[in-house]
Amino acid sequence: MPILALESSCDETAAAICTPDGTLLASRISSQADIHRLYGGVVPEVASRNHILHVRPLVEEVLAEAGLRLSEIAAFAATSGPGLVSSLLIGTSMAKALAVAENKPFLAVNHMEGHLLSPFMAGNGPVRPSIALIVSGGHTMLVQVRAVGDYILLGRTRDDAAGEAFDKVAKMIGLPYPGGPEIDKQARLGDPHAYTFPRSFMDGQSLEFSFSGLKTAVLYELPKLDLENPVVLANVCASVQEAITGVLVEKLILAAHQTGETLLTVSGGVSCNRGLREKLTTRCEKEGLTLLLARPDLCTDNAGMIAFAAAQRFQLGHTSPLEADVDPNLSLV
Ligand code: KG4
Ligand code: ZN
Repeated sequence: MPILALESSCDETAAAICTPDGTLLASRISSQADIHRLYGGVVPEVASRNHILHVRPLVEEVLAEAGLRLSEIAAFAATSGPGLVSSLLIGTSMAKALAVAENKPFLAVNHMEGHLLSPFMAGNGPVRPSIALIVSGGHTMLVQVRAVGDYILLGRTRDDAAGEAFDKVAKMIGLPYPGGPEIDKQARLGDPHAYTFPRSFMDGQSLEFSFSGLKTAVLYELPKLDLENPVVLANVCASVQEAITGVLVEKLILAAHQTGETLLTVSGGVSCNRGLREKLTTRCEKEGLTLLLARPDLCTDNAGMIAFAAAQRFQLGHTSPLEADVDPNLSLV
């Protein structure tokens, strides 16, 4: 039975319908990136107002795309955290209203569990024991997955998330918001070894991350750089990307070695990054490890991953009370 889910934790309003085996029957995203770009980042009040405008039409669009009536949906789900309170409230209120109207269960979903399980969608299921690297705009985490809902935190960032590092550096060098995809685009034309930016590995065995030193290093380098020169810009982007992705790959491999786990998954907005995907694929092949990368359209925020996570929980008999509140700081583990 399909689950309809809504995602509105930040600046994307999204709706999707997914079956428990990870088949996406429909998925739509209404991005507000063009609006927030004017301000150089997400403005919560503006995001919330735009979610209100788009959420209902999106529900109708995904039902039409899937060829389903509301009565054929088994349960309604929405992201309940982490994220912006005023944004989370729009998706959860709509999902609760649909659940009440159709007399069906409601499920509150942790956005990070959506990312975490997304590599198991689209033919890669079922969910099985693995090590997950989640790299998004707000989080960088290594998690051991034992089963759905049974997660152990192995490491996280002590300061900036990987996506945040991409975005902050992009802003410093004059690229538009969101900076990650822009750096990725520029990096394709550049030399990743043109500049040596710091890679924080902590001590050799640590699974914690730190990206704030990179930001400072770029800041000190800035006065020496002629960023009007396209070759310099591309080289800086390629070198920044090399520094961030190098640490992500090595820590994931280290986590595999420390736990003895041979199945690795990578998800979240930064997992779209072409340099990261190439590096991971080569390194895992060399190490004899199996790699599941979230499909590119499921890396950045989307409701398909929320519907899939909800479907996994629903299969285990979980539902949420209608009184369930949103939590901007909801943690995964
Ligand atoms: O998962 P996501 O869509 O939202 C959060 O839950 O945070 O991740 C957004 C982050 C942003 O920081 C964005 O710059 C980054 O993912 N991102 C990328 C790429 N595409 C998105 N970073 C590097 N390379 C990309 N291609
Ligand atoms: Zn996200």
